[in-house]
Amino acid sequence: MRHLLSTGDLSRDEATLVLDTAAELAQVGDRSVKKLPTLRGRTVVNLFYEDSTRTRTSFELAAKRLSADVINFSAKGSSVSKGESLKDTALTLQAMGADGVVIRHSASGAAHRLANWVDGSVLNAGDGTHEHPTQALLDAFTMRSRLGRLEGLRVAVVGDILHSRVARSNVLLLTTLGAHVTLVAPPTLLPVSVHTWPCEVSYDLDAVLPKTDVVMMLRVQAERMKESFFPSTREYSRNYGLDGERLARMPEDAIVMHPGPMVRGMEISAEVADSPRCTVTEQVANGVSLRMAVLYLLLGGS
Ligand code: CP
Repeated sequence: MRHLLSTGDLSRDEATLVLDTAAELAQVGDRSVKKLPTLRGRTVVNLFYEDSTRTRTSFELAAKRLSADVINFSAKGSSVSKGESLKDTALTLQAMGADGVVIRHSASGAAHRLANWVDGSVLNAGDGTHEHPTQALLDAFTMRSRLGRLEGLRVAVVGDILHSRVARSNVLLLTTLGAHVTLVAPPTLLPVSVHTWPCEVSYDLDAVLPKTDVVMMLRVQAERMKESFFPSTREYSRNYGLDGERLARMPEDAIVMHPGPMVRGMEISAEVADSPRCTVTEQVANGVSLRMAVLYLLLGGS
């Protein structure tokens, strides 16, 4: 594997290898010196054209824990504002010796385009509404850590599926790993092609919740919406928000996940977000180990 562009490119064995490697590398985080020499002399460029808190910082930390040199590039404050294209920006960074390029971009397909232009590995850190493979991998890692398995798990992904790269990457990865996914959303927030996805679809959150092991709540991505997709925030919350009452109707061991950023009071109540059954901060911590694993396997592994 040279690039990580889509979870759909991963076989079951490859995905399992990433998760197993992340589990081993997680032990580095428990040491007093949290560093391995594995990627010494390698250069990783974080090329972010869209805002990020979790993905960007965890890729940076992951690369540093593996002793790589890290260049953080954001479109804001760069020559992108003078009209420089993605291709010219990428070739400029490659000329400085980038071995791996982590890219986040608002255009679906940007990571695939980049992979045609640069010699090093490309890691998709979120491209438009298309995919966010390392998020899905860290989600799968978190499910496996908490619940002990992925095979046969019943996972509900709830909310703005239409604009979600996290949903697509999770559906592809989780089905490869043997889980059953149900997407739950109002019809207006589902892609027209959803019937071709390897999952079930429901409009009724209350009917799905008692039959789930994992409920993954998604933020409504207002910044990608040019029209109105539901009558009001209040109505959306009433039908598709997860509050304490709904949490109580889930199986006792079921967990709540969220890729972040959360909008408390909209898709998830503060009570649920702060509950020990909500894995949001655990997902962030696992994201570092998972991204170390991906960098290691693409840039330094044998
Ligand atoms: N989950 C996620 O991608 O968060 P950021 O946008 O903060 O990176």
